[in-house]
Amino acid sequence: MRSQLFDRDAGNYKPWMKGRKTISRDKKSYFTTLFGITVGFGLGAYVIIAACLKVDHYDYCPVLDDDFTGDSLDMTKWKVEERIGGGESNDFTFFTGHNHYVADGSLFIVPTLTNETMIPEDYAVLNSTFMQLGSACDSLHQSDCQIVADTEMNQTLVIPPIQSAMISTRNKVSINYGRVTIRARMPTGDWLWPQISLVPLTEEYGRYPASGLMTLFESRGNKAQHRLDQLNNEAVTGLHWGPADSPSFDRFYLTQGLYKVYRNFFNQRTYEFGLDWTPNSATMWINSRVRIMFRYGFGGRTFWDLGKFGYSYGNGTIISNPWAGAENQHIAPFDQEFYLRIALLAGGTDGYWSDNLPNKPWRNSDDRPQAMSRFLEYLPIWWPTWPSGDKIRQRGLEIESVKMYQMVPRGESCAALN
Ligand SMILES: *[C@@H]1O[C@H](CO)[C@@H](O)[C@H](O)[C@H]1NC(C)=O
Ligand SMILES: *[C@@H]1O[C@H](CO)[C@@H](O)[C@H](O)[C@H]1NC(C)=O
Ligand SMILES: *[C@@H]1O[C@H](CO)[C@@H](O)[C@H](O)[C@H]1NC(C)=O
Ligand SMILES: *[C@@H]1O[C@H](CO)[C@@H](O)[C@H](O)[C@H]1NC(C)=O
Repeated sequence: MRSQLFDRDAGNYKPWMKGRKTISRDKKSYFTTLFGITVGFGLGAYVIIAACLKVDHYDYCPVLDDDFTGDSLDMTKWKVEERIGGGESNDFTFFTGHNHYVADGSLFIVPTLTNETMIPEDYAVLNSTFMQLGSACDSLHQSDCQIVADTEMNQTLVIPPIQSAMISTRNKVSINYGRVTIRARMPTGDWLWPQISLVPLTEEYGRYPASGLMTLFESRGNKAQHRLDQLNNEAVTGLHWGPADSPSFDRFYLTQGLYKVYRNFFNQRTYEFGLDWTPNSATMWINSRVRIMFRYGFGGRTFWDLGKFGYSYGNGTIISNPWAGAENQHIAPFDQEFYLRIALLAGGTDGYWSDNLPNKPWRNSDDRPQAMSRFLEYLPIWWPTWPSGDKIRQRGLEIESVKMYQMVPRGESCAALN
């Protein structure tokens, strides 16, 4: 390593130094630099090791590991959720028992048009104003299992126009702190909305978003044309939380991460998505644990303080703190049991699809039946973007593998969990 301060060949040549055992200026500066670098690396390593020791005084016990090598879903691990009501996203999807399959080492969720693939098993009661799903719909909320036309408003029954699937580990596998990793390729097609989430098992603090929801990954099926687009080039990840039963007060925007790719968009290859969730933090990463999409450290402000929800809703009802009685004030609602949910949605009026997106068929201010009808009217425009024929798998969400781990204190045996 050459000193930048002195030129080796210039300056006084000192003949009397010849033959003496001494260290030249060059050598001195060399050793000084080397010493500095060594100390620097040493300190760096120490800081990293210290950080790891601090973050990692946990072990992770595997509780679910599925590579989808069989030819059907392993029902000891998974549950096929049947839903029709729009849920927290107010989407246009009818989640059925027949829009998923396991083949060639992957789980595929492939959306179809309801008018072409609806079968009698999809519903229990259907007439001109009412539809009820069968017993396979056992959501905590009745509104997930039925739709009713508002006859006072002269509405006809509008069934969600897209059939798709929602797969979860509800009541099979859940974790209370841990790690989840998923290898997946995202779907292709306008207004398709893949969601990978951790969902609260018991809704301890009340209905969405009060009990929280952790988004490991979401994206949009629409093809990005420009670097600034927020479509199939962008991952959306983060934490949903807010007062009970009021999705519009969800403060996701305060705790979200956006991560863009500039080549090989999310529908063009498989990525690994991960979530590390401990009492210290929630971290969402992509492909490697050091490539972080979003990290939130618990322990600062409570979510109630962070949200600055104010005194009342616009309608005069007073907003109450759903986490007031929580044991872990700085973590709640993210201190309970959560299960994994993988779904492919279409559309939605909750604001995820911004109204200024080109060719968007509906407005977010539309009520759901109206938005769904408009979406269907625009079918000639978006349908050609949905791959079909022998490319139909591209339309789908492909899951290659899923792993879930329960966090335990370091050194504790995993045997107790099984
Ligand atoms: C389903 O609906 C779409 C859009 O209205 C229409 O183009 C298609 O022909 C319908 N399919 C059937 C089988 O009715
Ligand atoms: C449709 O079915 C529901 C539930 O069975 C019933 O309450 C309603 O009156 C029915 N409507 C019509 C128009 O038959
Ligand atoms: C529903 O239709 C009836 C009969 O056509 C009409 O009298 C009534 O005003 C309509 N109600 C609404 C809310 O549009
Ligand atoms: C007021 O708005 C909130 C949030 O949307 C809702 O939960 C509540 O039921 C509403 N109250 C009334 C009286 O409409």
